[in-house]
Amino acid sequence: MPVEGSPPPPAEPDPSAPAGTQPPIAAEPPPPSSDAAEVTDGALDDDAGHRDVPDDILAARARAHDAQQAHGPATELQGDEHLVEAVLGEQLPEEEIRKVAAALDDVEQVPGVPKPDPILVADGITRRFGGLTAVDVDHLEIQRGLITALIGPNGAGKTTLFNLLTGFDKPDTGVWSFEGKSLGRVPAHQVAQNGMVRTFQLTKSLAKLSVIENMKLGATAQKGERFFSAIFKRSWAAQEAEIERRADELLLRFKLDHMRDEYAGSLSGGQRKLLEMARALMVEPKMVMLDEPMAGVNPALTQSLLDHVKDLRTRGMSVVFVEHDMDVVYDISDWVVVMAEGRIIAEGPPEAIGRNQQVIDAYLGTHHGEDLSLKPEATS
Ligand SMILES: Nc1ncnc2c1ncn2[C@@H]1O[C@H](COP(=O)(O)OP(=O)(O)OP(=O)(O)O)[C@@H](O)[C@H]1O
Ligand SMILES: [Mg+2]
Repeated sequence: MPVEGSPPPPAEPDPSAPAGTQPPIAAEPPPPSSDAAEVTDGALDDDAGHRDVPDDILAARARAHDAQQAHGPATELQGDEHLVEAVLGEQLPEEEIRKVAAALDDVEQVPGVPKPDPILVADGITRRFGGLTAVDVDHLEIQRGLITALIGPNGAGKTTLFNLLTGFDKPDTGVWSFEGKSLGRVPAHQVAQNGMVRTFQLTKSLAKLSVIENMKLGATAQKGERFFSAIFKRSWAAQEAEIERRADELLLRFKLDHMRDEYAGSLSGGQRKLLEMARALMVEPKMVMLDEPMAGVNPALTQSLLDHVKDLRTRGMSVVFVEHDMDVVYDISDWVVVMAEGRIIAEGPPEAIGRNQQVIDAYLGTHHGEDLSLKPEATS
């Protein structure tokens, strides 16, 4: 529940605003960090965004363009598979994907239940704002390699929990580990270094930087360990070229390559969400946390975003996403965690969550004025 007169939270300009009602960003919030300020001057130079695009990217763009001309607007993901593999990793074999997806079949459907192969484990996490306990999570495990949806009514504490786990806010109590490594009190950029990146409920792309500069900032601001260790020994110029190349490949993948040199401020709300997801991938994360990636997105782009989220799973990444649209939750999630008033009140596969009376009472039954509990089997 919103707190009257509370100061705005540091990481989210308006966390209590109802989901889906926020307009696409019209005015850009001030740059969130000194990193942003550092690059602003350079990025606004006249020659910014007019650098040479590598030949293989141009060739891949041309192939993608030809394919689109031949087959009409593609709904499938774009990009030369060899380049995509180099950037996002290989797709797991079908059998492996099925095995990973089946891992939770026998897991008990109760809040805080242990998982067979958790990538994230959190214990006793609380965060209070004045008299309000925004987060009070006893125990939470996120299974590796799957898509976990975090749902719950407005003000349930979903964004606050994201902020805590990713180092953008500090809890009053609690410990948590990612890949077995304790992340309590670790600042956000180091969390990203460890392979856990997040996007924001309100997009944080910098309007006065070009799209490509935003992407490159994703690499330099977060300094992803795996990516950077690979290019560490090279000269500065070679590192810069490698970062730009990765950025170009991701832009192609996310169908933003034609906007490469435009200011991010000229993108639509949906394109900004895509840019933020692409930017998060600059650091080769192991887990991606998406806070309402579909909110405010034009339906024409929703499918593309969903396909990108599913694609992360096929490449072995773990995904946690906050979402209010239950159709999306049923479509792409393997497991659902439900929060209400700061606590986890239910966990389970999407179809079971849709039938859970406690969840219907706390959230689904009244959500958007429609009965969301009668859904067919999940298709993901
Ligand atoms: N910095 C802050 N100061 C005071 N109260 C805050 C702050 N951040 C969050 N809150 C409050 O904590 C509660 C949880 O907010 P949070 O943004 O985490 O909810 P949410 O589940 O993400 O909601 P939504 O679905 O609307 O995004 C709300 O009551 C909110 O008003
Ligand atoms: Mg939120």
